[in-house]
Amino acid sequence: MSVTRESMHGQWSTRWAFILAATGSAVGLGNIWKFPYITGENGGGAFVVVYLICIAVIGIPIMMAEVMIGRRGRRSPINTMRALAKEGRHHPNWQWLGWAGVVAGFLILSYYSVIAGWAMAYVFRAGSSAFVGATADGIGTIFSDLISDPERLLAWHTIFMVITMAVVSRGVAKGLEKAVRYLMPALLVLLLLLLGYSMNSGAFAEGVAFMFAPNFSALSWNGVLIAMGHAFFTLSLGMGAIMVYGSYLPSDASIAKTSVIIALADTGVALIAGLAIFPIVFANGLPTGSGPGLIFQTLPLAFGHMPGGTFFGTLFFVLLVFAAWTSAISLIEPAVTWLVETLHMDRIKASVLTGFMAWFIGIGTVFSFNIWANNKVFGMTFFDFLDYLTANIMLPLGGLIIAVFAGWVMVRGTVKDELQIRNPRLFQTWYVLVRYVTPFAVVLVFIFKLRGDI
Ligand code: PHE
Repeated sequence: MSVTRESMHGQWSTRWAFILAATGSAVGLGNIWKFPYITGENGGGAFVVVYLICIAVIGIPIMMAEVMIGRRGRRSPINTMRALAKEGRHHPNWQWLGWAGVVAGFLILSYYSVIAGWAMAYVFRAGSSAFVGATADGIGTIFSDLISDPERLLAWHTIFMVITMAVVSRGVAKGLEKAVRYLMPALLVLLLLLLGYSMNSGAFAEGVAFMFAPNFSALSWNGVLIAMGHAFFTLSLGMGAIMVYGSYLPSDASIAKTSVIIALADTGVALIAGLAIFPIVFANGLPTGSGPGLIFQTLPLAFGHMPGGTFFGTLFFVLLVFAAWTSAISLIEPAVTWLVETLHMDRIKASVLTGFMAWFIGIGTVFSFNIWANNKVFGMTFFDFLDYLTANIMLPLGGLIIAVFAGWVMVRGTVKDELQIRNPRLFQTWYVLVRYVTPFAVVLVFIFKLRGDI
């Protein structure tokens, strides 16, 4: 089958447009909301070390593989996998990876939208000066009042999903570029402001030690799996999001360079978020392992006590919602492109349909924080279960298959041609990483985690 050189869904105007959009996908709730709380739950330093190793050894090579596959195929992930498998004379069953990615995208979006809804609610809390002068207890009450009210959560979840669908229906290559260019740097500036506050909170050293002094006895194999899963989650890997964005990448852009830039930006944001949050946790005697509510119970304290806190707090949550929004778009894009390509559905219909499905599943997450809080699946709430299943199982498995596909199924010449790495040593290193190291590492972590369970 011939390979088209441009996707029917459009193309980024430049390499930078791709970098911005992919960074928009990567930087999201995963960096600012999830990274700090899972670091807190898994004992700090050792967890961060494993996470950083996974980004470097597994994340970056797989990101390159995903972008490369996407650009080669120039179609939705499902059709790309099918076409490229055929090209390499392999079975079209490889398209099932695309399907699994679509399912993972739905499931992630379903709860992602609920958490983004919390951030939306906090725009108004911050705007009404609710945090000014508040104590840790007061802030804790604001948070528990919110999550115990299913109606409010459902309303915010619905609003977030509607705005996501509105953008997806117009095509991602259009408005996204401009918006990301200004709002992402603004978010970074506000994080740096929070970091400045944390440095003066009196417990900065404690926060730094918690994040960077590794204590491996505090880390279980389950923690290692969570760190690895998070490397996939935070870089948007293993489900086709980056593959779809890669399919809009101009042919002459360097895949290696862009992938490294995106990974560095993403990791930088997560580390800054952690460094801003943990000192506040220690300065106020809060528990590090307080779970998904962590940023909602710490950052408001900073905003409540800094000059201009109402303004900065409101702006911060607006930008957080925005960061979540640019990630949410990429979660649904693989499904939408497939519906448009294969069923010839128009983009608006495809967006509404997929958005509605994710919204519906999201109701389960809304309830898991209140009326279903005691209904457990495998000992977890519905939200925890979905998060565990997608981030720690589906994405690493998806990434494993992508690595095998790039390393073993695609013809070496094609891969080389598409990646355009001029330095032969560099290409060889990447090739060895995707052929042997990443698949082996993922399988090993799974095995150790399972052994730990028995
Ligand atoms: N990377 C996003 C975040 O960190 C989440 C995401 C996962 C987006 C998978 C797309 C695909 O918030």
